[in-house]
Formats: sequence, structure tokens, C-alpha cells
Amino acid sequence: MPKPVDYLFTPFRLGRLQLPNRIVMAPMTRSFSPGHVPGANVGAYYRRRAEGGVGLILSEGVSPNTVTATGTPDVPNIATPEAKEGWRKVAAGVKAAGGIMGIQLWHEGPYRNPAKSEFPDVPSWSASGLKVPGKPLWAPMTEKEIEAAIEEFVAGAAAAKDLGFDCVEFHGAHSYLIDSFFWDQTNLRTDQWGGGWEGRTRFACEIIRRTRKKVGADFPLLIRLSQWKQQDFAAKAAPTPEEFERWLAPLVEAGIDAIHCSQRRFWEPAFEGSDLNVAGWAKKLTGKPTISVGSVGLSGEFTATYSGEISQPASLDRLIDMMERGDFDLIAVGRALLQDPEWVQKVREGRMSALKEFSRDAIATLY
Ligand SMILES: Cc1cc2nc3c(=O)[nH]c(=O)nc-3n(C[C@H](O)[C@H](O)[C@H](O)COP(=O)(O)O)c2cc1C
Repeated sequence: MPKPVDYLFTPFRLGRLQLPNRIVMAPMTRSFSPGHVPGANVGAYYRRRAEGGVGLILSEGVSPNTVTATGTPDVPNIATPEAKEGWRKVAAGVKAAGGIMGIQLWHEGPYRNPAKSEFPDVPSWSASGLKVPGKPLWAPMTEKEIEAAIEEFVAGAAAAKDLGFDCVEFHGAHSYLIDSFFWDQTNLRTDQWGGGWEGRTRFACEIIRRTRKKVGADFPLLIRLSQWKQQDFAAKAAPTPEEFERWLAPLVEAGIDAIHCSQRRFWEPAFEGSDLNVAGWAKKLTGKPTISVGSVGLSGEFTATYSGEISQPASLDRLIDMMERGDFDLIAVGRALLQDPEWVQKVREGRMSALKEFSRDAIATLY
């Protein structure tokens, strides 16, 4: 018999937001926004998840500027009047369905491919010009560029609030711009933006601090972090709990409200000698609300999906055990919710046999 799922459906208070349950839709790039403007199809996709009972919807990664933030066609931004208008309608649709939604701000940094972008002559931004450790591709960001990038994140967050969204998540994971500052293998700077954790977190902290000033004390700000890097799944940006604490403390001090810890398999322990996962440690070390993620309800992890592996529906028992004992507060669900807007309802009603397998074909459709 599967374990009762009641715990997943207990409410949670995230700052001023009263979330009806513990299930968060993970941010997932969909590339269905021609001209970087989200249209009615994108609005309907998010609204379906609101109608389906998702506790907190996080948007796909959204660019805070129009030039350096993305090289990916059809990824939405939140910088042009057209894109802002599109997002205003998305927010209104989700709200009308009783949903709660945040925008994830995503600057691809060194993972933007200039050749594929509309601005092939503009170099990509990152802490030290590195996409992969040891192989510089571009010049390190200048002070002026760092200042511009910070202000663009702040403007994106303020726009998200003005357009009717309930919170903002800064994408600080997966080797993108903010993460290029966090990781000592891709941040070789010797100025105030590099060095120890205090320097390497400064870029994120400036974004958080200045955004906080703009959006006020009660607008929730989240940050997504990952130990793993795109080119190195085994990487541990913080090799010990002590180092992890030195990573997190400045972010908390700067005013972050919740920490979203990206893992590919939520049950994997973060450090030897404890079975807490990354979100478990983040909660223990900071006392802040944390979100975990990774292969919830599916047999295989998400990067394998891209190489064609088909994931089968999987038991939620282990997740419920970890949440009941208080390891972390919220759980993000990616692919299962990408594919099935009714996933939450089915879980709630115990209709496990109605849950579907996941194949990469699902990524090609927006429903
Ligand atoms: C199609 C797709 C797009 C994704 N895009 C993003 C993104 O824009 N931002 C982000 O932080 N993570 C992104 N991810 C990672 C997911 O948020 C999530 O962490 C990952 O899929 C693991 O959760 P899952 O096993 O439930 O799918 C993406 C994943 C998928 C499958």
C-alpha cells in the first residue's frame, strides 16, 4: 500500500503567501515564446497547472535583458514592453484560476551561445569568461557589466511584481551567470567579486539586496542553487556543510526568503555521515524555508530524459517520509507536471495508476 499523501496537502506559509499545499511546479524552459514574448498558449499552459491545484508555480527561466541573457530562440524575456504585456496576461490567468505564481529570472551567462543568438558579436557574460574550468572563452565581466547585470535582475524582479506575480526566483544554479560567480572553478577573480565565499556570493547578494529595496519587505525572493554543474554532475561547489553554510549565510543576510536546492534525485544525501539532502542541509543551516526537487514521481532523472530514456511513474513514499520528518518544506516537481497538468489532483485522489510515463516527446508539446 502506498503511504497516505496527506502531508503533501498541508498548507505552508512563505512570507505573505499562503500556499495551499507543498507542491511547487519546477521552473522549466519551454521555448514557446516567439520573439521572446509569451503568448496565449503559454498563459493557458500555466493556468492549467493552477486549475490542477499546484501550490506554487514557478515560471520557466525568463531573461532579464534582451542581449546577453539568452542565446536560445523562443525563450521569453521580461525586458521589452511586448513581453511584459504577455506576462501580465499570464499572471492574470493564473490568478483567475486561484493560482500562485513566481517568475524565475535566468541569465544564461557562459551557457549563452553567441553564434545561436541574435547578437553573435557580443561576448557572453560570466565571472571569469569560463564555461568549463580551465578553458577561458571570453574576457571576465567588467565592473560596468557586473553593475548592468545586477540592475537588470533588479528591474526584472520589480517588473514581475508590477505585472502581478507573487514572488521571484533568481536562477543561481546549473552553471549559469549567477552560479559562475559562486563556483570557485569558474570564478577566478581576485577583486571584490571573487576569492572566498564572501566575494563569490557578492554578485547574488547585491541582486537580492537591491531587489529587496525595490519590492519591499514582504515580497518573497527565492534563489535556486545547485552543487552540481552542467559539465560536472559530481561537482560539489560546497564540499562540506561548513562551506555550505558560508555560501548560504550571506544570501540570508542579504534578504533571501527561501532556498531552492536543485538535485537530480531528491533522496541523495548531500554530505557523508547524514542522510539529509541539499535542501535538508540548507534548512538546517539557515532555518529558512527550503524547496527540494529531483525525480519526484518518476523512475529516471531529468538529464537522462534528453538522451531518450523513458521514466516510469514511481512511488512517493520516500518523499513523504522525508517531508514528514521535516527535512525540507516544499517539493518541486518538474517533468511529471510538464506532462500532466492534473498530476497534483491525481496524487491527491490516490489515482496512482492514472499517472503517466515521461518521454522527451512531452518536451516538444505545450499543454
Ligand atoms: C524541459 C526542461 C526544462 C528545464 N528548464 C529549467 C529552467 O529554465 N530553470 C531551471 O532552474 N531548471 C530547469 N530545468 C530543471 C527542472 O527545474 C528540474 O530541476 C528538473 O527537471 C528535475 O526535476 P524532475 O525530475 O521533477 O523533472 C528544466 C528541466 C526540464 C526537463
